[in-house]
Amino acid sequence: MSSVLEQSATTNPGHGDAFTTHMVTMSWTEDDGWHGLRLRPLANLAIHPATLGLHYGQVIFEGMKAYRRADGAMALFRPALNARRFQRSARRLAMPELPEEDYLRALESLVAADHHALSDDPTHSLYLRPLMYGSEANLMLRPSRTYEFLVLAFVAGGFFGDTLRPVSVYVSHEHSRAMPGGTGNVKCAANYGPSFTAQRTAAAAGCEQVVWLDSAEHRWVEEMGGMNIFFVRGDTLVTPPLTGTVLPGVTRDSLLALGPRLGYRVSEERVSVDRWRAECAAGTITEAFACGTAAVVTPIGRVVDTGGDWRIADGAMGPVTARLRTALTDIQQGRAADPDGWVHLVP
Ligand SMILES: Cc1ncc(COP(=O)(O)O)c(C=O)c1O
Repeated sequence: MSSVLEQSATTNPGHGDAFTTHMVTMSWTEDDGWHGLRLRPLANLAIHPATLGLHYGQVIFEGMKAYRRADGAMALFRPALNARRFQRSARRLAMPELPEEDYLRALESLVAADHHALSDDPTHSLYLRPLMYGSEANLMLRPSRTYEFLVLAFVAGGFFGDTLRPVSVYVSHEHSRAMPGGTGNVKCAANYGPSFTAQRTAAAAGCEQVVWLDSAEHRWVEEMGGMNIFFVRGDTLVTPPLTGTVLPGVTRDSLLALGPRLGYRVSEERVSVDRWRAECAAGTITEAFACGTAAVVTPIGRVVDTGGDWRIADGAMGPVTARLRTALTDIQQGRAADPDGWVHLVP
C-alpha cells in the first residue's frame, strides 16, 4: 500500500504481517460437503497452478477482530453478522455456504490457540481473516467443484498508525469500486485489487484513503477504501443507504444502533460530493468519519477533490466522532454494558 500508510512506530504491529503461529482449515467437496475442520501450524499452501479461484476470482474473505478484555478473556464482536455476510458472499460467487456454526468454531479455535500473541495493550487486537477459495485444478469457466476455507490471524495496531488523527481523503472520479448488479455489497477479493490504483492516486495527492462515488453519475458518496462513511449533520448521523453497491459493514450497523441510544438521530440517505462540500462550507455538516473493523471510527479532516479541496470544520476530530468511537470500543473491550449481546466471549 502507499507510503502514507506505512506503519513505522515500533510499538505498532502494523496491519497485516505480524501473523500468529496457527491457522484453521476446512474443505468442501461435492460428496462430503464441508468437513475436516483442523487447527494446524501456519504454513504455506501447496496449490496447483490451475487452481480455479486464482484464475477466475472465486475468492471471498472476511475481516474481524478478537479483543482482549481487562479480565484477560478474549471476545469477538457480532461474529454471526460476519458469518452471514460470508454466506452472502459465497452465494454471490456460486460458492458453497459455510454453516454459521463451523465459521464460529473455526474462529474460536484459532483465538483459543493464539491469543497469547496479543498483549493487554488495548490499542492492539487480533485481526482474523477467514478466506475461502475455489481450489479445483481446472480451468473450465465454471464454478470450482472443491473449496478450501481457512482462517489466519495477525496482531493489529491502529490501522492509521499509533495515534488517532484525522485522515485526508481523495474523491475518486476516475475509478469506481462497485456498480449496480455487481459485487460491491459482498466481500470478494475481486473488489479490492482494482482499488489499489485509486489508492495510489490518493497517496500521491497526500491522502490516506479513497472516497468512492457511485459508478453511474460519479456524484453520490458511497464509501471509503475498505470502510463505510458517516456525516454528522446537527444531531443526525447520516450514512449512504445500502443500495447494493455498499458493503453492509458490521461497524456501520452497530453505529446506526448505538446512535439513537446516545441521543442522535440516524438517517440512511444519499449525499452528493457537492452537497458534502457545500454543507461543510455552510457549517451544517460538522464532522465526517470512516468506520470499519480495521479503522474502528476514524475522523476525516480534509477532502481532496477535483472541484476543490476543503476541510471538515477545523480539521480536527469532532465530539460526535469521539463519542461514538469510545462508545463502540467500550462495548467491544468490555468496559461498557452490552445490552444487545454483541460481545461473544471465546471459550
Ligand atoms: C468495502 C468495505 N466497506 C466497509 C467495510 C467495513 O465493514 P466492517 O464494519 O464489517 O468491517 C469493509 C470492511 O470489511 C470493506 O471492505
